[in-house]
Amino acid sequence: MVALDTPSPPVLEARDIEVTYPVALSGWFGGNVLLRAVRGVSLWMRAGECVGLVGESGCGKSSLGRVLAGLERPAAGTVLIDGRPVQWGRQRAARRHRGPVQMVFQNPYASLNPRMSALDAVAEAFRYREGIDWRSARNRARQLLEEVGIEEALARRYPAALSGGQRQRVAVARALACRPRLLIADEAVSALDVSVQAQTLNTLRESQKRLGFGMLFISHDISVVRHLADRIMVMYLGRIVEEGPAEAVLDAPRHPYTEALTAAARWEAASVKGEPPSPLSPPPGCPYHTRCPLARNTCAAAEPPLQTVDGDHRTACPHWRELNRTLARQPEPDVSATTGML
Ligand SMILES: Nc1ncnc2c1ncn2[C@@H]1O[C@H](COP(=O)(O)OP(=O)(O)OP(=O)(O)O)[C@@H](O)[C@H]1O
Ligand SMILES: [Mg+2]
Repeated sequence: MVALDTPSPPVLEARDIEVTYPVALSGWFGGNVLLRAVRGVSLWMRAGECVGLVGESGCGKSSLGRVLAGLERPAAGTVLIDGRPVQWGRQRAARRHRGPVQMVFQNPYASLNPRMSALDAVAEAFRYREGIDWRSARNRARQLLEEVGIEEALARRYPAALSGGQRQRVAVARALACRPRLLIADEAVSALDVSVQAQTLNTLRESQKRLGFGMLFISHDISVVRHLADRIMVMYLGRIVEEGPAEAVLDAPRHPYTEALTAAARWEAASVKGEPPSPLSPPPGCPYHTRCPLARNTCAAAEPPLQTVDGDHRTACPHWRELNRTLARQPEPDVSATTGML
């Protein structure tokens, strides 16, 4: 993490990213329709900065992450890493975790070589990146694996003999050993239990401070993002609906969707009400208006663009000034219903 007034060139600059998937229609008429998973998303990041990307399941977080990692070609848009355009054709190089962008997946099984022990998987990255011999590389790998809670005995195992959470930590260590310029962590700690999660988050944060890479930290859990992110972007149905400095977004959200997510994280509401609409038939106008407590007729007319609230803080809700008033009118949360769980 860095102080945001430190001037440094962007490690990542992405503009107007669109991701679409052809989806086969069932039934009489058959055919394909295009599902728009990511719609016109732009983002930038400085070296040493951590941006949290949050939103409900299916909102397009992983689709965006895969494009930024060079694993998937977008339908439109550009991505620059350290000022150089990403080449989506070179997928194999990106998959082999050798480029300047590393991605840690929710289920890292596919990204680890089944015929290589955890120790050698991490050592290989050190060897490739720093041109050192196996012995020194294994020593470095042993140390890094220990930092993420993988002791020597576990480190000698093959991926198939590790639990999901242990594999996750090996994948984090391998990504760090590659000395990335940008690390995309896609639900990278979600499967870990609380103590191991905290340990892995600490390793990520300390490595980031020491090595100064940019990090896109993707999570459906806004409270995990709080520990790491300098800035937060909130995604809904493929769009960014709010973005800004982490404290501002979390403590004074300016979009009713972010407010609902933070209330759920504070146990004031079970979850955001209702189901998100299907990306195959998104509602007209503001994508959130079908679930929004502030919605009025005009919200269905046109999709509102992001507008500046204050400095870097932007919201796609034109009615954000009413947010606090509406919330003040809402009844107090029923504490008795949750105290048993706290
Ligand atoms: N290969 C694919 N083919 C068709 N549709 C896809 C494909 N990959 C993703 N989708 C759809 O695109 C949308 C966005 O999916 P994505 O995996 O990016 O969401 P997500 O925010 O990462 O969700 P989660 O939190 O569950 O991981 C979803 O509606 C999903 O069903
Ligand atoms: Mg995902």
